Amino acid sequence: MKKEELKFSIDVYESSDELNDDDAFLLSEARSATQFAYAPYSNFQVGAVAKLINGEIVTGTNQENASYPAGICAERGLLSSAASQHPGIAIETMAVTYNNLKGTSDTPVSPCGICRQSISEFQNRFKKPIRIILSGMEGKVQIIENAASLLPLAFTAEDLK
Ligand code: THU
Repeated sequence: MKKEELKFSIDVYESSDELNDDDAFLLSEARSATQFAYAPYSNFQVGAVAKLINGEIVTGTNQENASYPAGICAERGLLSSAASQHPGIAIETMAVTYNNLKGTSDTPVSPCGICRQSISEFQNRFKKPIRIILSGMEGKVQIIENAASLLPLAFTAEDLK
């Protein structure tokens, strides 16, 4: 038996003021996009914005449904839009934020498990690591250089062979 240690690091910034212009822009767009979320049940508006490798910007927001499981997260909405509107173009960086209308929005949250699985497949498919910027409407910002870090030991297409 041997132990294998899985490690990853994140960069933590005190606020978006410390980000470079590109990252600050993307996060600002994601914060603005939260207003387009349809979240009457949770009141938790999520905004996700990606910069593709060709410079295009794509937006996703969570869209809920009275039949709760029919709702879709902002990140998966974004991936679907990116692949449909800009086929074959990889994502370089994605910013994810939220506006909790019934609480606070000042600490980063990270994608749910299903979205991590979808992000993992997207970056495997396009063979390009996705950088992820996480933050609330204000406060600390976390940056993860490779979204694969969010889903260690991921189940992938390789496992189906
Ligand atoms: N949500 C997202 O859009 N992304 C996440 O990563 C976490 C959760 C949405 C789903 C639901 O509409 C609301 O946030 C509360 O869970």
